[in-house]
Amino acid sequence: MCGIFGCLLKGGSAAPLIHVALKRLEYRGYDSVGAATVYEGRLYVKKDQGNVDAVHAKLHLDNLPGRLGIGHTRWATHGAPLQKNAHPQLDCDNRIAVVHNGVLENFSGLRQELEERGHVFRSKTDTEVIPHLIEESMKAGLGFADAVREAVKRLEGSYAIAAICTQEPDKIVCARKESPLVVGIGDSSIYCASDIPAFLPLTKRAIAMRDGEFAILSDAGAEIKKIADWSPVEREPETITWDLEMAEKLGYPYFMIKEIHEQPESLRNTLRLQDTYLDLMATFLDRAREVFLVACGTSYHACLAASHMFSKLAFRSTQPIIASEFVQRAGDSISVDSTVLAVSQSGETADTLSAVMHASNRAATILGLTNVIGSTLTRVSRTYTCQQSGPEIGVAATKTFTAQVSVLAQIAIKLGEKRGKLFHEEAKTLRKKLQQIPEIVERIIATQEEKIKGLAKKYRDKRCFFFLGRGISTATASEGMLKLMEIAYVPAITYPAGESKHGPISLIEEGFPVVFVCPNDSTRKATIGNIMEMKARGAVVLAIIEEGDEEIKNLADDYVEVPKGVPEVLTPIPYVVPLQLFAYHMAIERGCNPDMPRNLAKSVTVL
Ligand code: F6R
Repeated sequence: MCGIFGCLLKGGSAAPLIHVALKRLEYRGYDSVGAATVYEGRLYVKKDQGNVDAVHAKLHLDNLPGRLGIGHTRWATHGAPLQKNAHPQLDCDNRIAVVHNGVLENFSGLRQELEERGHVFRSKTDTEVIPHLIEESMKAGLGFADAVREAVKRLEGSYAIAAICTQEPDKIVCARKESPLVVGIGDSSIYCASDIPAFLPLTKRAIAMRDGEFAILSDAGAEIKKIADWSPVEREPETITWDLEMAEKLGYPYFMIKEIHEQPESLRNTLRLQDTYLDLMATFLDRAREVFLVACGTSYHACLAASHMFSKLAFRSTQPIIASEFVQRAGDSISVDSTVLAVSQSGETADTLSAVMHASNRAATILGLTNVIGSTLTRVSRTYTCQQSGPEIGVAATKTFTAQVSVLAQIAIKLGEKRGKLFHEEAKTLRKKLQQIPEIVERIIATQEEKIKGLAKKYRDKRCFFFLGRGISTATASEGMLKLMEIAYVPAITYPAGESKHGPISLIEEGFPVVFVCPNDSTRKATIGNIMEMKARGAVVLAIIEEGDEEIKNLADDYVEVPKGVPEVLTPIPYVVPLQLFAYHMAIERGCNPDMPRNLAKSVTVL
């Protein structure tokens, strides 16, 4: 998730507006910043690593000539957060500048093709193929807008782009597919941006662009067309009634709920990971003598789910260990034969890094999965994969959990194939099912949230909860428990459902709430047995079930349904979503601020 901005004024200087707009977009990413303007037939570019204030202090972003320009604040996915990888990216002749938010799946093939035709690349970004593609078409005689259209037609993946060029210095051309883009219409100005807050103080009139649309911004206004057939799109601007704070949350009251709703999009991005990264990870895991999965909190729950996936899909036994326990539990045995896969959204969690350093000092192989390229974890890992979720602002991890599980599932499938434990057809089916998960999550949010709100009203005064599941659903239940505790301040306990009868069941009395995670998988029958045990002792059961599971519907007091057709190993992704929503609405019911849970920090950098 990056922030893009474009600005065309009838008079005056665009650069100061680009600078403040980037500041307002910084919540979308902040590891490098850049801006470009066109003035008297020349492109002026300033860009560097660092956040907006740091880059401005060094380069004076306000000081670029021209009434038209584009800007970018980056959340690295391809290429480290270095100056050369900052946007705008340029063509060979420094005539075309492009900013991009999204992930291109086919950039390596395009890059190779362009390099063979003599284009010189200066960055490691996927974006850089775009200005070179535009350059090719313009050299072949096309006008700027047509050349951009030809370029985007070749792109696979997601993009929102804005481009400018010296040959046609009076327009900004932009296009979108699966990444947000809005056009702002001022009295004597026109803007494009990833998000409304970028231009909200300048104009309240906005046109939301849709997938497959293209816009040419000029003094005449915004001309919108469909990329596919170049047909014109007529859409009147809407008047935005949000204030700046609401706009940053896209109208949601809290970042947490915005991020829960963002999951279909962030999950789609995780499915655009380059195969080479997955393959490299799988190769290391295949060769390892022993594998530890090390993490804290929510990331640890992703590791719990992954241990089931690796075992079921690749017959690879792994040990998930809470990072702060790693040295005590496994420290002395770590050697050159050990492999540690550390999972950390921030890549900066002190407990995780301390475990990693211990393992590294004993010559173990360190692999990383993180959301932050350039974080400490990426620097100390032999190889790492970026989960591509974009920044998460709510303290409670939501979209980053489902993204971690999705990436780990992709690695497990790869590993299963490598080890000959998954047939090609099985792997293909699982990948197809993974592709369907974003839509399933969309449906859960659309159809179940109102019901979950009602459940939060019903359960708001309960003083303690059990979260139970079996097999891979123990990971889902654990994550549901953590969410409820940390943002709604309700004590909650999680156990593998089968273990609950070995002690914890003595807590059950009339009305004690028990949440069961019960997909229609190999554990379902046994879990139904546990539901009956709990019901017999007076528990109130809230079950997360597969759509249409009449048997559990009849047993449970309440249920939330997840669409059919999710393979067992992928269930944690959709089944955790009702639990995230439940925790969020419980927090609201109980008057807690879910974005700022007490005593917590987004990144815990102390031991
Ligand atoms: C819970 C939560 C924390 C983090 C944990 C690890 O919602 O966010 O439990 O998961 O502090 O953080 P990372 O993944 O950044 O290492």
